[in-house]
Amino acid sequence: METFVSFASAGTFATVGEIYDAARAALPPEIWDFLDGGAGGEQTLRANRAAFDRWTLRPRLMTGVAEPDLSTTFLGIALSMPVLTSPFGADRLLHPEGHLAVARANAKAGVASMVPEAGSFSWEEVTTAAPAAARIAQLHPMGNVANFTAMLDRAADVGFAALCLTLDCPSAGWRERNMRNRFDVDVETVSGNYPHATAEDLADTLGQLFIRHEPVWTWDELAERTSSSPLPWIAKGVLTGPDAVRAVRAGAAAVLVSNHGGRQLDAVPAALEALPEVVAAVGGTVPIALDSGIRRGSDVVKALALGADVVVLGRAAAMALAAGGEEALARLHELLREEISTTIKLLGAASVAYLDPSMITPAPRVTPW
Ligand SMILES: Cc1cc2nc3c(=O)[nH]c(=O)nc-3n(C[C@H](O)[C@H](O)[C@H](O)COP(=O)(O)O)c2cc1C
Repeated sequence: METFVSFASAGTFATVGEIYDAARAALPPEIWDFLDGGAGGEQTLRANRAAFDRWTLRPRLMTGVAEPDLSTTFLGIALSMPVLTSPFGADRLLHPEGHLAVARANAKAGVASMVPEAGSFSWEEVTTAAPAAARIAQLHPMGNVANFTAMLDRAADVGFAALCLTLDCPSAGWRERNMRNRFDVDVETVSGNYPHATAEDLADTLGQLFIRHEPVWTWDELAERTSSSPLPWIAKGVLTGPDAVRAVRAGAAAVLVSNHGGRQLDAVPAALEALPEVVAAVGGTVPIALDSGIRRGSDVVKALALGADVVVLGRAAAMALAAGGEEALARLHELLREEISTTIKLLGAASVAYLDPSMITPAPRVTPW
């Protein structure tokens, strides 16, 4: 019989915080800043974390529920827990095996990868490394239309189950930490999908990394340019109800509520704050994912109680990659799974499917003396 939870027997990393500390110790300061930093004055970066503390949970006691079931599906993709990893580019800056290591750890944990267009490895290399996890290809819908269409075909040929289209970076964000450090991302680390590309070629398509001047695509153009693809697509970067409705009208099969981890437009609300509005607008018609600020298991539970179907890990996964590659990512997943499970059990829910708004409420405002 297992009598105690043993906090002394934890593996290399006892908490997610230790993974962050190890990432910081492993990375040169300018790469740490590239990873950890946000846009502008970093108001949104801070808001993403603060938002989780503004919600409190409402537990139910003596419910008779068994060990909670964390498994779910997202766009037909089976997940052992409601977690995916985000399409963070420039991954070889963090670890030599980049998204190969992420996908391998994900496959072992039953978690799916969103594989970036601007990654250090090609979609083909990542799917070969871990076909069970590398199920979603990410693209930036902008720039050269012929390239975008060719990439849609390529994603289908590779065998991905879905696409993630990043809508919130028609131009690079205003990244002051990078400016202060005089830091530019090395083109080599973002050209895994375009091995022979020059910086000028890449500037044609990768919005997050380059200042761009041509008109931003419209919803109608997006609908038309995605219509040839057999794959369902996720609208990444939605923060308002009206944009969620427009995305679904344009053909989105899912919405990812996200502010890009505070890395694009500063001063937008925390993703968690935007979630209820998006759920009210399109919840029930398409699945809803959330990223930006997820650091621990209870964050996942709060997002699900507010109406998300799954969450996506950005920096948490990237930090684990930097801290120790595949092994550290495996540990991150273990810690998240255990904390999600513990939180759900203490909350009195039977499974992730039972989390709903009756289990969460805004924190009362405390008047300081
Ligand atoms: C180093 C780094 C690179 C990123 N590159 C991309 C990218 O190429 N495309 C994209 O859609 N999102 C990119 N993102 C954003 C993530 O997909 C995700 O939206 C964000 O990290 C979520 O917030 P979080 O870091 O607080 O979890 C990147 C994030 C980081 C930290």
